[in-house]
Amino acid sequence: MYINFVVVLISYFCLSASLTFDSAVTVFPLDFADSKLSNVMGTSALKNMSKFCANLAFLFPEQPLLDRYKLAKDAGFKAVETGFPLGHTKEQVVEAKNAAGIQQILINIYTGDVTKGELGFAAVPGKEDEFRKSIDLTIDYAKALGARKIHIMAGRVDEGNITAAHDLAYENNLRYAVGLLEKENILGVIEPINKYSIPNYYMNCYDKALSVIKKINSPNLKLMLDIFHLQLIRGNISNTIKELIEYIGHVQIAQAPNRNEPNCPGEINYQYVLGQLQNAGYNDWIGLEYKPVSNTKDGLKWIGELGIV
Ligand SMILES: *[C@@H]1O[C@H](CO)[C@@H](O)[C@H](O)[C@H]1NC(C)=O
Ligand SMILES: *[C@@H]1O[C@H](CO)[C@@H](O)[C@H](O)[C@H]1NC(C)=O
Ligand SMILES: *[C@@H]1O[C@H](CO)[C@@H](O)[C@H](O)[C@H]1NC(C)=O
Repeated sequence: MYINFVVVLISYFCLSASLTFDSAVTVFPLDFADSKLSNVMGTSALKNMSKFCANLAFLFPEQPLLDRYKLAKDAGFKAVETGFPLGHTKEQVVEAKNAAGIQQILINIYTGDVTKGELGFAAVPGKEDEFRKSIDLTIDYAKALGARKIHIMAGRVDEGNITAAHDLAYENNLRYAVGLLEKENILGVIEPINKYSIPNYYMNCYDKALSVIKKINSPNLKLMLDIFHLQLIRGNISNTIKELIEYIGHVQIAQAPNRNEPNCPGEINYQYVLGQLQNAGYNDWIGLEYKPVSNTKDGLKWIGELGIV
């Protein structure tokens, strides 16, 4: 029903969106909850749709990380998420965020040295000390930034051979992290990542993610559902959203298989999928973690083209 409704109104949305993005001052482009448009439409469906946050590791690659806070704000975003701000002090990041006047929703855990292939330590046996240091450091940044979500990355496994030792390290490290996160009222999220994007990454499977989340059974540990990864791991998007909805703590989107803007030619119809998320009751932030085809700001036109602002 929602989709039919959107289709009927699509020309209205396209007009509205082009006005929004072409004008020098963007008033309400990326927040459904208080958008004037949804008030005009008077539909509960649109009023309660989730909000988009800019992933600063992917968007605005033209500029250094700290400058991207302001670029995101100027493009109309109210919030951002980012990978761990490598190489910047907490004070520098907080200053950039505050100067831009934007909210930080999520940061990734400190991953270790990515140039050596390190992508977190949670599932790496023998690296428990590194894991503990990384979660401490990340909580410290998250608190300073006001971020209420941390993506706990698992790390790579030699030649992709996952053993019981990896599973055990993962569960124990997550339990340790959750103990800290519960005290700080921060949500930890774990994310299955497809093998084409990151070969040999430990957390590459929804059943495995769900099983450890259920085992640990804490409101402070949930799933990060990146629809791009979902499509490349197993497809079956609508059923998976319905199955996993109560465990979803954060959502990210990009077109598949090339990880560009959601409206690019590709395998996923985001107008439909975002409707499915909304119908399932997802009401939280959606991270835009895609590689802009060219200029990031021009690329944001997809939001209007999908008929959702
Ligand atoms: C990984 O598994 C393959 C196939 O079973 C095996 O040949 C290889 O030696 C294993 N590698 C490691 C590091 O255990
Ligand atoms: C699709 O997802 C549903 C819900 O998770 C599951 O029951 C079904 O088995 C899946 N289909 C396939 C082909 O994996
Ligand atoms: C939006 O949805 C959430 C949960 O689905 C609900 O708790 C909340 O009251 C809704 N807000 C509005 C404005 O309808």
